[in-house]
Amino acid sequence: MKNKFSKILNKKNKSKIICLTAYSKNIAQIIDNHCDIILVGDSLGSVLYNYKSTRSVTLNIMIEHSKSVRMGIKKSLMVVDMPHNTYRNSSEALRNAKTIISKTKCDAVKLEGGKKIYNIVKTLIKNKIPVMGHLGLLPQSAKNFKAKGKKITERSNILKDAKVLEELGVFSIVLECIDSSLAKEVTKAINIPTIGIGASVNCDGQVLVTDDLIGLNPIKARFVKKFSNITKEINNAIIKFKNEVKNKKFPKKSNSY
Ligand code: KIV
Repeated sequence: MKNKFSKILNKKNKSKIICLTAYSKNIAQIIDNHCDIILVGDSLGSVLYNYKSTRSVTLNIMIEHSKSVRMGIKKSLMVVDMPHNTYRNSSEALRNAKTIISKTKCDAVKLEGGKKIYNIVKTLIKNKIPVMGHLGLLPQSAKNFKAKGKKITERSNILKDAKVLEELGVFSIVLECIDSSLAKEVTKAINIPTIGIGASVNCDGQVLVTDDLIGLNPIKARFVKKFSNITKEINNAIIKFKNEVKNKKFPKKSNSY
């Protein structure tokens, strides 16, 4: 287990860290070979459930999806997002993090925030629960979805938060939608890896929502690149199935009993 974390830490300044989301076993199985980290992100709230924000995601939803994802992972480090309102104080956070880890057998949990959750992160780490940080745009508490780190105070707060999280012992930090030059500054200032999403090439690794990059989720956002159009592939397969059923070509004898 320790080895999985040191492998990721050792990549800093050497090679890029690959992180993707998975919400189910089938996707986890496909991406496991290519990833260092697989994240069961609470983005599943908007991607799968059409929730207006990740604030509606519950502990139970995260646990059920994570149990499925666990079945598909052999080698990657598995991180599960702690959903909104499950870490409002240290004892709540500890109880819920322990539940997530025992029920899903994940390797670590991810929490949004810096100084504001100081005592919470401290408690988790003191209790040997590995934590991934998340700074910049924080979907669980964001008032707007604009990029962060243009204003001087915002920049210095994000930088300070990153240093605080490093001191507390988080093993990496997701930087979401922050200014490229700030991503560079933060990445240089800390010894743990930064994983960017909309945070430029200046991070130690990148994370994307898998459904976005394969073209399954019809999102249009600057930080997303669609590397494939899986929706088209699915459509083509369904059209072939439909035609064969209508023309009585499927099922063949070989598909029948
Ligand atoms: O919820 C999520 O998928 C995330 C990533 C986008 C970093 O937090």
